[in-house]
Amino acid sequence: MPITRTRAAVVESAGAGFSLGEVSLDELRPDEIRVRIVAAGICHTDLGVAAGALPFPLPGVLGHEGAGVVEEVGAAVTRVAAGDRVLLSYTSCGRCAHCRDGHPAYCETWLPDNLTGGRRPDGTSPISRDGTPLGGHFFGQSSFAGHAVVDERSVVKVAADAPLDLLAPLGCGVMTGAGAVWHVLAPRPGATLLVTGAGAVGLSAVMAARLTPASRIIAVDRVPARLDLARELGATDTVDAGSEDLAETVTKLTGGRGVDGVVETTGNVDVLRTAIGTLAACGTAVVVGAPAFGTEVPVDVNFLLRGRHVVGLTMGDAETQALVPTLAELVAAGRFPLEKLVTHYEFGQIGQAVEDMVSGKTIKPVLRL
Ligand SMILES: NC(=O)c1ccc[n+]([C@@H]2O[C@H](COP(=O)([O-])OP(=O)(O)OC[C@H]3O[C@@H](n4cnc5c(N)ncnc54)[C@H](O)[C@@H]3O)[C@@H](O)[C@H]2O)c1
Ligand SMILES: [Zn+2]
Ligand SMILES: [Zn+2]
Repeated sequence: MPITRTRAAVVESAGAGFSLGEVSLDELRPDEIRVRIVAAGICHTDLGVAAGALPFPLPGVLGHEGAGVVEEVGAAVTRVAAGDRVLLSYTSCGRCAHCRDGHPAYCETWLPDNLTGGRRPDGTSPISRDGTPLGGHFFGQSSFAGHAVVDERSVVKVAADAPLDLLAPLGCGVMTGAGAVWHVLAPRPGATLLVTGAGAVGLSAVMAARLTPASRIIAVDRVPARLDLARELGATDTVDAGSEDLAETVTKLTGGRGVDGVVETTGNVDVLRTAIGTLAACGTAVVVGAPAFGTEVPVDVNFLLRGRHVVGLTMGDAETQALVPTLAELVAAGRFPLEKLVTHYEFGQIGQAVEDMVSGKTIKPVLRL
């Protein structure tokens, strides 16, 4: 029986946008937690699903950068207790080979459990309206709501005084950019990195790169204000894709050698292809930006033979219990100035927040509930 009524942003159908309305939350399963949501970041994946570009059962409730306070825990939950502050991230099965090997972002059931299923693994939805199940369990949370029934594996406990409305985006966009640099590129002293796209993910990669021994960080965007911010956050060089040729500029900046690592966040195939072409021998390009399903990119095979890698990335390949608290500590210490990316909106302004995100005015909108 549903036990809690709450206000949620419901997407009725593809392209219909977000409308606030009452929904009912199901009783907690033993491994679930009811969280009072305090803040939720908006990520491009929410917009992609709302637009119908990614499959998800609609009507449904999205939101996967939630932050809040634990109200009640299921009988088997050991990770948190009522009153704890938590950040929410993706879920995983915890049992498959990739989960056991420390790579839960590559969990065998990652896609249905986080993105496309809209249901718990047992096939039920934690959210309903007038007795009809809605698409829910988005990244184990569906946090565009006053309260959420959250999978225990989506929850990361943070300090009792953690600023939830600042830290909410750690669970997806920030973790992804930071993980690209720390977990995949792991740059050596003196390395040169290229970050294409200076949005939420790209700027997180720049901030993460500044905390490594990479000595050169080149950021690319076509919005000059974002390039200014990239320099403030640690980029040593910037390229305005609107007026400069990316390949030529990188060749010039690196004396013809190329870059050791790329973090591609634009999702633009031409940018990806050009960025791969800037790799030095033994360099690695991390593909983060997500174009439409079925998109392909041509790669010169003989170019790859000189030890070059092209690797895709989900959620920074992060084990959330390890990375999210570390990021929270770095933010608190002023070493990862996340506040420069965040703009706050009230929950009722979700439409405006989305509009500002799409127009490029806001880098990372965070809703206050
Ligand atoms: N793989 C994952 O796990 C994962 C996680 C989070 C986000 N994403 C994806 O990562 C991408 C980036 O997310 P975000 O939140 O940072 O988005 P964003 O829109 O904030 O950033 C993208 C940036 O790229 C710039 N850009 C776009 N086209 C360009 C071009 N042709 N040349 C130069 N710059 C260009 C934009 O101006 C913008 O600043 C999205 O595709 C998102 O869906 C993937
Ligand atoms: Zn996301
Ligand atoms: Zn798994």
